[in-house]
Amino acid sequence: MTELAESVPDAASAAVKRLANGFCHAKLLLAAEELGVFTDLHRHGPSTEKELVERLPLHPRGARDFLHGLVLLGLLERRDGRYANSAAATTALVPGGADYIGGFLRRADRKLYPAWQNLAEGLTSGKSEAHGAGPEAFRAMLGDPRQREQYLRMMDSANGLVAGHLAGALDWGAHGHVADIGGCRGNLVGQLLRIHPRLRATVFDLTELEAAFAEHVTALGVADRAGFRAGDFFTDPLPEADVVILGHVLHNWSVEQREFLVAKAYRAVRPGGALLIYDAMLDEEPTDLARVLVSLNMLLITEEGSEYTAGEATAWLEAAGCGDVRVAPLGPADTLVVGRKPTA
Ligand SMILES: C[S@@+](CC[C@H](N)C(=O)[O-])C[C@H]1O[C@@H](n2cnc3c(N)ncnc32)[C@H](O)[C@@H]1O
Repeated sequence: MTELAESVPDAASAAVKRLANGFCHAKLLLAAEELGVFTDLHRHGPSTEKELVERLPLHPRGARDFLHGLVLLGLLERRDGRYANSAAATTALVPGGADYIGGFLRRADRKLYPAWQNLAEGLTSGKSEAHGAGPEAFRAMLGDPRQREQYLRMMDSANGLVAGHLAGALDWGAHGHVADIGGCRGNLVGQLLRIHPRLRATVFDLTELEAAFAEHVTALGVADRAGFRAGDFFTDPLPEADVVILGHVLHNWSVEQREFLVAKAYRAVRPGGALLIYDAMLDEEPTDLARVLVSLNMLLITEEGSEYTAGEATAWLEAAGCGDVRVAPLGPADTLVVGRKPTA
């Protein structure tokens, strides 16, 4: 039951107003991340408003309301006139925290927040008009160092939440080589290789990401077991492997393109191997608002993308030839669908 459904008539307008003000909540958080509030408090410990104004690019005029707002959102705590990160902020908003998602926030602010200003237009036209969602626009974005960095950090955040769960979701000891199709700069396979020391990996992605991949897998200490194959997954051959992954990839494309990619990825799986799909898949009945919002993101930033159900993913895998298709939750935000390729 939602807050609105439970509200008595008198409280309905207040509940609606709180919903309408949701963008203010988001902006308080996004501005705090951009201005470095959480990192600063982590470094310097509990601090007064005056100390924060001196250290951060904060004008005194709005500082008190800003800091009080963050306290009321549960992101900061205030004791004896000093502000400190809440437990949630320490975990999710300080670099190196157990569930750090700062990379997601920066790109959410720069890309998704403006895109949502076009929601009504997008719902009317069915198109993502204002943001150039096609392949050329995507490659142009990757060619811009600042945007590329934001994009990479966002992808690291998204697949960083998945990697530990994926490492335990399969009998990796039975497989020698994993190929991550659209694997970005290799953050997911990097985490898998660190946990499974005999596994080797190939990331297949656009040539614009090759240098970032080399740098990232070196930093993760797995460069000797991880390779990069540059190409376009619609037109170039995919690397063969025992396990092939399509993670956070299919939601960017039309149903026909998804079917094409699943069939192509299945051909790259060696006999006895597995094809893995993960995304923020939707339930048949809507139960998770976060996933519905991710799907609407796709409406606004891709040409034909959306989230889809595990039933649809199962059907694509079976049509490609997979047997024994299984569905399981993957971390807090994703669903994993695994199809097996019979032994030859
Ligand atoms: C949404 S990201 C997913 C990254 C990663 N798999 C994850 O789980 O976070 C989509 C990836 O597909 C790549 N990509 C997009 N179009 C591509 C194409 N035509 N050929 C190869 N890779 C492509 C992007 O560069 C990006 O790394």
